[in-house]
Amino acid sequence: NNHVVIMAGGVGSRFWPMSTSDKPKQFIDVMGVGKSLLQLTAERFCSICPSQNLWIVTNRQYKDIVKEQLPDIEESHILCEPCRRNTAPCIAYVSWRIKKEDPKANIVVTPSDHIVMNVDEFKKVVSDCLKFTKESDAIVTLGMRPNRPETGYGYIQANLAHNSLRNKDIFRVDSFREKPDLATAEQYIKKSNYFWNAGIFIWNIHTIVNAFRVYQPTMAKLFEQLMPVYGTEHEQEEIDRIFPNCENISVDYAIMEKAEEIFVRPSDFGWSDLGTWGSLLAQTKKDLYGNSCIGNDINLFETNNCIVHTAQEKKVVIQGLDGYIVAENDNTLLICKLSEEQRIKQFSGQN
Ligand code: GDD
Ligand code: MG
Repeated sequence: NNHVVIMAGGVGSRFWPMSTSDKPKQFIDVMGVGKSLLQLTAERFCSICPSQNLWIVTNRQYKDIVKEQLPDIEESHILCEPCRRNTAPCIAYVSWRIKKEDPKANIVVTPSDHIVMNVDEFKKVVSDCLKFTKESDAIVTLGMRPNRPETGYGYIQANLAHNSLRNKDIFRVDSFREKPDLATAEQYIKKSNYFWNAGIFIWNIHTIVNAFRVYQPTMAKLFEQLMPVYGTEHEQEEIDRIFPNCENISVDYAIMEKAEEIFVRPSDFGWSDLGTWGSLLAQTKKDLYGNSCIGNDINLFETNNCIVHTAQEKKVVIQGLDGYIVAENDNTLLICKLSEEQRIKQFSGQN
């Protein structure tokens, strides 16, 4: 059976002040469409698996927000981490937890903070990959064609001469490199066989559990030994006990850079990781002067290439700005050059 796992425990620190650790970006209506990124993510998968096969892994701090935003999900499928350990422990936990419930599970793992423009194409691609992993013990990634030397993504080197016999659109991966430096990323984008890792993974339960056993044996043991308590009243207390012992590492470094049987499905469904204000500006509808405004009463004069996001009903007037972020949330107001947005983490005092 198909299962969908949504990872929703990140803090989204570069999206401050809209995203705060009390309410990170995945729980916010970033696009101004009346739904949070998490709700939009869950919606994209509704035809891929029934709601009883949907799993959310998050920090325990956000359990109530998840329940409120996704009322149809079974409470026992909201897995709560007691502390932040990045995505490898998150995926290890949910994998063994699913194994207990469905030893033949076929799984999609997805971030909760992306946008997808062409949802029909997205569904087609994911269903196709699920068909593939039902029959093959493979880790399948979705590869996006890069258009800039982004250092915040993972890069997949595809072997375009070597597609799978079972599916001609799925290729072998020669190497996986998480977040390279700028010089390396610049080399990669010159070649046609490098793709961005969309952060969406498709695999069967056997494959992922085995990958943890081989590449992260210590972590694997921690979650494997809890098999008897999953789904019982003791699950949470046992998770709370062992979770802090997990290494703080993302799945990309823990598994993807090491694993051998990796495949990639090059895809094009209008994907964007909403990592920063700039990426939001790139994705939203702009006025004639390149401004994107989310708010009720925003009035711009001689202003270009700005992103303006006002949370409350407030009259906002801006004159003469070019290339700025103006973002407000509760009692915080940020005015920052778009070109300096990587420093927002520092400005906000979050690190
Ligand atoms: N449950 C849980 N626990 N979720 C987490 C945690 C955690 O400790 N940390 C992060 N997440 C969630 C985030 O909420 C997000 O939805 C997802 O996992 C990915 O984490 P990010 O922190 O956003 O990762 P990234 O953007 O730096 O890098 C990943 O995504 C890129 C594409 O967006 C990597 O997979 C890259 O290789 C990839 O290119
Ligand atoms: Mg991200």
